Amino acid sequence: MTRPRKQIILGAYLGGVNHQTVWSDPAAGSQIDFASFRHAAQTAERGKFDFFFLAEGLALRERQGQIFDQDVLGRPDTLTVLAGLAEVTEHLGLVGTLNATFNEPYELARQLATLDHLSGGRTGWNIVTSSDAFTGQNFRRGGFLAREERYTRAEEFLSLARQLWDSWAEDDIVADKESGRFLRRGDAGAFAFQGRQFDVSGRFTVPRSPQGQPVILQAGVSAEGREFAAGGGPDAIFSPYHTLAEAQPFYRDIQERSARHGKPDGSVKVLPGAAFVLGDTEAEAVERHREIARTQISGRGAQILLETVWNRDLSGYDPDGPLPDVDPDPEGAPVIQGRARIHQNPFDTVARWRAVAADNKYSLRQLAIHVFGHVEFVGTPAQVAERLDSFVQNDGSDGFILGSHLTPTGLDEFVDKVVPLLQERGALRTEYDGSTLRDNLRIPAPVERQAAVV
Ligand SMILES: Cc1cc2nc3c(=O)[nH]c(=O)nc-3n(C[C@H](O)[C@H](O)[C@H](O)COP(=O)(O)O)c2cc1C
Repeated sequence: MTRPRKQIILGAYLGGVNHQTVWSDPAAGSQIDFASFRHAAQTAERGKFDFFFLAEGLALRERQGQIFDQDVLGRPDTLTVLAGLAEVTEHLGLVGTLNATFNEPYELARQLATLDHLSGGRTGWNIVTSSDAFTGQNFRRGGFLAREERYTRAEEFLSLARQLWDSWAEDDIVADKESGRFLRRGDAGAFAFQGRQFDVSGRFTVPRSPQGQPVILQAGVSAEGREFAAGGGPDAIFSPYHTLAEAQPFYRDIQERSARHGKPDGSVKVLPGAAFVLGDTEAEAVERHREIARTQISGRGAQILLETVWNRDLSGYDPDGPLPDVDPDPEGAPVIQGRARIHQNPFDTVARWRAVAADNKYSLRQLAIHVFGHVEFVGTPAQVAERLDSFVQNDGSDGFILGSHLTPTGLDEFVDKVVPLLQERGALRTEYDGSTLRDNLRIPAPVERQAAVV
């Protein structure tokens, strides 16, 4: 039996956090002005994307005590930006990356439920669990959470948030002038939660929101992160695997883990971050990509990118020479502070990189460009449309969170040139047919649990 064709889920990622050189192109605009966010979000909506996506950084990163000069200075607050975008978009989902380590569940659940009301049911929350003590210094709980406990806290955080969102039933608010009653139930909003991380009770202030519960994504790919995504609550996982060779085993692993938790196939969506470079011919696209990578990753930039894995000062190594001949030093004092750890084992990573550099005769800088400047989808619009579609149909993912090197106008040419081809292929909607983010993603609303107090 042939399987029905999968529709591609598309999120639009606006560079800012983890972006080496947001201003390297003369055409680049501000990453802070509301006009930039508006332009990118409205472009995504014009392209019938499922959602707009913001990453999060809660600390200004440092390299050896100085502001990390590759970092982008200034990180506006995610929820405030998304609330502004709710007003200038109509169908687009609004997904914010928000940390489960440093935030408080009551406060965050309240903000997310509020955004769901303001946007008419378009809110998504990408849960991240970064728990480094350097970032924690900015918070009351600075450094209090052992790394091994990040998912225990995230799980408790999410189940408490869900209890809060469920603490109001849909029909709890009534305006019965005759009886003078406005609440159907005296216990509307009541909640109580006891766990290792949280011991809270009271009443939630926000009535049930249009989606009941925002859509939940999570970003984190360790074994614990995968278990959390497959077995816990998340509806989708944001992954870093954008080549088919890495993406297919990850996709399979998430499906197998979900099945062990009794979930039907495909119920946890997998969405890698990915980028594209277009050209009128394939050769032009390849050359354009080479130029972008060269501009983005200078010799100095390459040293710094490799330092994120080596955890050593590599400024003495010639960018045009071989890879550093020393091992990484993960136990040493952090050279770079506040950067999310995605490379699981630096020794394995370095061993893999040495093999790639040897096979291709890469210098330090060429290796950094190969690893950090990699763009999977480079070609003519027709080639890119075909490759995105076949990546999804071959179970590399269920879609992509797409970014571009240019803020805020990088998505324009994708929407103008690639989106119509995806639509022609039947891989992307031509009109929105629902009003909420759950409708866009075809993720059913959770069954309402009537104010269950545990
Ligand atoms: C694709 C991806 C994107 C991430 N984006 C963010 C982010 O925007 N902000 C953040 O604080 N952490 C981010 N993280 C870090 C994770 O939340 C987490 O701290 C880290 O990856 C450790 O989780 P893990 O060990 O399960 O991978 C991201 C991780 C991945 C894999």
